[in-house]
Amino acid sequence: MRRKLKLGLFGFGCVGQGLYHVLHETHGGVQAEIKKVCVKSKNKERPVKEDFFTFDKDEILNDPEIDVVVELIDDANAAYEIVKTALLRGKAVVTANKKMLAEHLEEIYELQQKSGKPVLYEGAVCGSIPILRNLEEYYDNDLLNSIEGIFNGSTNYILTKVFEEKKTYADALKKAQELGFAESDPSLDVKGYDPKYKLVIAIAHTFGLFIQPENVINIGIDKISDLDLKFARENNYTIKLIARSFRLDNRVYGFVAPQFIEATNPLASVRNEYNAVQVQGAFAEKQLFIGKGAGSYPTGSAVLSDLSALSYDYIYEYKKLHQADRFEFSNELIVEAYISFDESVKITINDFEVFQSGYAAHGKQYMVGQVKLSKLKEWSQADGVGIILAPNSQFIPVKTSSKQEALLA
Ligand code: HSE
Repeated sequence: MRRKLKLGLFGFGCVGQGLYHVLHETHGGVQAEIKKVCVKSKNKERPVKEDFFTFDKDEILNDPEIDVVVELIDDANAAYEIVKTALLRGKAVVTANKKMLAEHLEEIYELQQKSGKPVLYEGAVCGSIPILRNLEEYYDNDLLNSIEGIFNGSTNYILTKVFEEKKTYADALKKAQELGFAESDPSLDVKGYDPKYKLVIAIAHTFGLFIQPENVINIGIDKISDLDLKFARENNYTIKLIARSFRLDNRVYGFVAPQFIEATNPLASVRNEYNAVQVQGAFAEKQLFIGKGAGSYPTGSAVLSDLSALSYDYIYEYKKLHQADRFEFSNELIVEAYISFDESVKITINDFEVFQSGYAAHGKQYMVGQVKLSKLKEWSQADGVGIILAPNSQFIPVKTSSKQEALLA
C-alpha cells in the first residue's frame, strides 16, 4: 500500500527545481505534495509563487504534518544538521548531498537505527543510475568483487568536449557550470572529490565498510596536459576519471584517478554528463549501468524514485554490513601509471616499484611504471605533476613483511 507523502523541501536550485518539475509531471505514480520549500536567498526570482517559500528551517522541521524532509542544498554542514534534526523529530529523509553523506554515513546509519526513520539517497550517487537499491536488493546474495566507473558528470563532460570538439579545458568547465552539472565549487569535480564521496557511499553498500573520505585517495583531471591528450589520441585512447573499489582477499581498496581508456572498453563510449557503473559479482560477473549522472531532471528523477520507495516504507538495510565476510580498507596497492612532470620536479626511476619506460619532450619528462598508490597521492598534491593510470593497469597489493602480517592477523 502506498502512503501519501507531505514534503518539506530544502533548496530550490538545479535539483530542487528538477524534483518540483518531475513531481508535477509524474502521473498516477508517487503521491507526494510539497508543502513548503526552505531557501536561503530572499532576493532570487523564482518560478513559483512566494508563499510557497520560507527562510526559516523550523517552519519545516517543526511542522507535524510534514513527514518527509527532502534535503537538496549545497552546504554539507547545514545539510547534516537538517538531516539529523529531521530524523530525531521522526521524519523520513531524502537527500542528494554526497559530501554530507560520505562524511557522516556511519552516524546517519546509527541515527536511522535509533529513530527508526529512513534516509534514502539514490540521487547522491551517479544521478539517475539506480545503483544503491540494486546493491542493496539485487546484489544481496552475490559476493561482489568490484564496483567501478565514471562517477562524475562534469569531468566526463569536460573530457568529452576536450577530446571530441577540441574545446579548451576552461571553456568546457564553464559550460559544465552553466548547464548545472558542476558543483558550486567546481574544484570538487575536477580534483576528484565529488566522485570520491560517491565512491565512499557506494563502498558502504557494496562491501559494508564505512570509510572516512580523507582515507580515500583522489586524483583529478586538473593536471592533464595537452601532451597527455596528444598521447591519448595517438594511441587511440580516451581519458576518463575512474572511481573504483575492489576486494582482494580480505582487503578492500578504493581510489579515484584518471585513466587512459582503450577504444574497445565500453566506458570509452560513455560521453558528456553520462555516468557508468560496472559491478562485478562472483556469480553474475560484469554488469554495466549507464545513465545521466548530473543535471536537474535526471537527479530529480532519482529523488522522485526515493520518494516513491518511501511511500511503501522502503529502508536501506545496509545488508553488506551484516555479511559474514568482513573486510579491511587499505591503500597498500601498486598500480601502473603514466607520470608527466616539469623538469623542476624531482621524480626518479627509484620512485617506481617497476620502471617501464621514460622520455623527455617539450620541457616535460614522462615516466611509466608500477608505483605505489601512496606515491601517487604525494605527487597529486605537488604542482606540475600529471598522473594517468595505464589502460589495463594491474593492481598489486603491497607485500607486507611477516612482522606486519602477524600484526594484521
Ligand atoms: N557535480 C556532480 C557531477 C553533480 O558533475 O557529477 C552530480 O552529482
